[in-house]
Amino acid sequence: MTRKGIVLAGGRGTRLYPATLALPKQLLPVYDKPLVYHPLSTLMLAGIREILVITTPQDRQRFEQLLGDGSAWGLRLCYAEQPEPEGIAQALLIGREFIGEGPVALVLGDNIFYGEELAARLRRASAQRAGATVFGCRVTDPQRYGVLAFDDAGRVKDIVEKPAVAPSNIAVTGIYFYDSDAVAIAARLRPSARCELEITDVNRAYLERDALSVEVFGRGMAWLDAGTHDSLLAAGAFIQAIEQRQGVKIACPEEIAWRNGWISSQALRALARPLMSSGYGEYLLALLDEAGRQHEPDPMQ
Ligand code: TTP
Repeated sequence: MTRKGIVLAGGRGTRLYPATLALPKQLLPVYDKPLVYHPLSTLMLAGIREILVITTPQDRQRFEQLLGDGSAWGLRLCYAEQPEPEGIAQALLIGREFIGEGPVALVLGDNIFYGEELAARLRRASAQRAGATVFGCRVTDPQRYGVLAFDDAGRVKDIVEKPAVAPSNIAVTGIYFYDSDAVAIAARLRPSARCELEITDVNRAYLERDALSVEVFGRGMAWLDAGTHDSLLAAGAFIQAIEQRQGVKIACPEEIAWRNGWISSQALRALARPLMSSGYGEYLLALLDEAGRQHEPDPMQ
């Protein structure tokens, strides 16, 4: 069965108030594009085309307005609502019918992944049929996340959610690959002390049955979230620096769809047309010109 994807884009975004009083965090711009393009691109780089976008009830329409049914990007998008932010693991229950009996990848709507070999890592995780795969990344503030605890041999022995004293600096990032057991595991969870269904509890269930693969990113990988004013600005500056220096766009869904062979060159040209005055359309057209001129190494690989 092909793996489906879920983008969890609900939540209140209170740490970004008043910026998020009328607009959800995931639709705020990160330099040149809406934040939600990043998690969506992450799933697309993993080769996933059938995607459920979970939003708050009040924001659903705005996401639909931006992303539609996904067909322009070679995707099948559908939408569901999370009435209250009752935990990341709740996405698996909201998406139960959508997921069906197959494997699923869940990504948080405000997470940005960038770096060498990202697509290859994601595709490897997606190809894994049994168990779960999560990615760890070193951070300076692990207490905000699910944190990995390692034994003397360097194996993961536990995952602790928002610990007061962190057992390591390696946080679990916001992309999770699960086999078809994840829904049943989520259905057995009880809300935590903060009244949320914790994704860490799903990951621990896999760990306990020795079915959790953990890949820790090295220095070549960047993992950012955009949950605060400072981190949103920092993420925008990061994207700007790389895009301007290298002349490539990060998390450009049109480009990924075209490179994946999901849309034709003609379709890419048509997508570029209404985007010309921002420079985004010109970038898409330049991809076609370059492809016609020569065969450069593919920056997605
Ligand atoms: P958070 O940043 O933990 O929460 P938030 O977005 O509500 O922001 P704040 O803490 O400022 O109020 O969530 C991380 C991502 O997961 C974000 O994209 C929102 C999403 N999320 C949900 O959609 N539903 C949930 O129940 C939770 C906990 C998070």
